Amino acid sequence: MHAWLCENPVGVEALAWKELPTPQPRAGEVRIAVRAASLNFPDLLIVQNKYQVKPPLPFVPGGEYAGHVDAVGDGVTHLKPGDAVAAVGATGGFATHAIAPAASVIPLPPGFDVEDGAAFAFTYGTSHHALMDRGALKPGETVLVLGAAGGVGTAAVQIAKAAGARVIGAASSEEKCALLREIGADATIDYVRDNLRDALKGLTDGRGPDIVYDPVGGEWAEPAFRSIAWRGRYLVVGFAGGAIPALPWNLALLKGASVVGVFWGDFVRREPQAFAHSMAELARWYAEGRIKPVIDERLPMSALPEAYARMGSRQVRGKLLLVNDAAA
Ligand SMILES: NC(=O)c1ccc[n+]([C@@H]2O[C@H](COP(=O)([O-])OP(=O)(O)OC[C@H]3O[C@@H](n4cnc5c(N)ncnc54)[C@H](OP(=O)(O)O)[C@@H]3O)[C@@H](O)[C@H]2O)c1
Repeated sequence: MHAWLCENPVGVEALAWKELPTPQPRAGEVRIAVRAASLNFPDLLIVQNKYQVKPPLPFVPGGEYAGHVDAVGDGVTHLKPGDAVAAVGATGGFATHAIAPAASVIPLPPGFDVEDGAAFAFTYGTSHHALMDRGALKPGETVLVLGAAGGVGTAAVQIAKAAGARVIGAASSEEKCALLREIGADATIDYVRDNLRDALKGLTDGRGPDIVYDPVGGEWAEPAFRSIAWRGRYLVVGFAGGAIPALPWNLALLKGASVVGVFWGDFVRREPQAFAHSMAELARWYAEGRIKPVIDERLPMSALPEAYARMGSRQVRGKLLLVNDAAA
């Protein structure tokens, strides 16, 4: 097998594409022939030793991938070679083959495109848990999505629409805003060009959004929170902008608003039944054509450094896929 190996977590430049012995799955594990992996923001952090999970060295990065089971360890009865599956974890996916615990592997339903499966659970799972569970989104409410053209952002736009919300997508360029309108946003704000507060006032008759979905943090958080509607919910999803914002608490009092944390990884571990319900609803919406991963580009697995560079410079629209050729 081949894999991108991180022997020293000092950045993308230290990764090397290496030939390694193909591992055998141990009891309770499966080996997956990786068809495609997608890039998520934590993949960028983990190779710089900046992510909350710090895997023992050396490790293979790649937290989300899909393909076909090609070997099973002892005791694995619900999966067999040939099954199409997706896997989400911290590592392993930027490779031709990966080992995963069978219990955490997600079998793909019939008709679910394998490449879509490599770009689905992490972003749609996070955004569904955020909006439907933590945010208690109701049909007819208005949702503002910041960083809306990114991975979790595009998923949030589609999920909020599928749930009957009015969606305002905010992003850093007109090109990204055009994508957001294509995937269903009712209105968009270029927050680099326009004043976020003024634009929100204009788009909501001064009322503000009921929910703010924020995977960016930094400079947009305070103006977005100042604009939130009465009884609004501010979903703290991530800090792709780099800075963790500090908000004056009186704003929460004045709006009767809530700041709500979202931690999908722990939700999956702590609440497996709720996670299963969330994935079942997402699979149904996918089958009905109401949600579909936005794939910016499919790159060969060997182009991982280029993919990292594009994500680090805010150029990705939706998701980047890294694909192994069929013979790998
Ligand atoms: N809480 C959870 O459970 C959970 C789960 C998954 C992901 N996350 C977090 O959500 C965030 C987004 O993840 P993602 O995979 O969707 O990333 P992504 O595809 O790169 O999207 C992030 C967006 O943030 C914006 N951004 C603003 N400043 C940036 C900067 N300096 N560098 C990069 N992007 C910047 C960009 O949009 P504009 O250019 O339009 O501003 C970009 O599209 C990350 O912080 C990630 O860790 C959290």
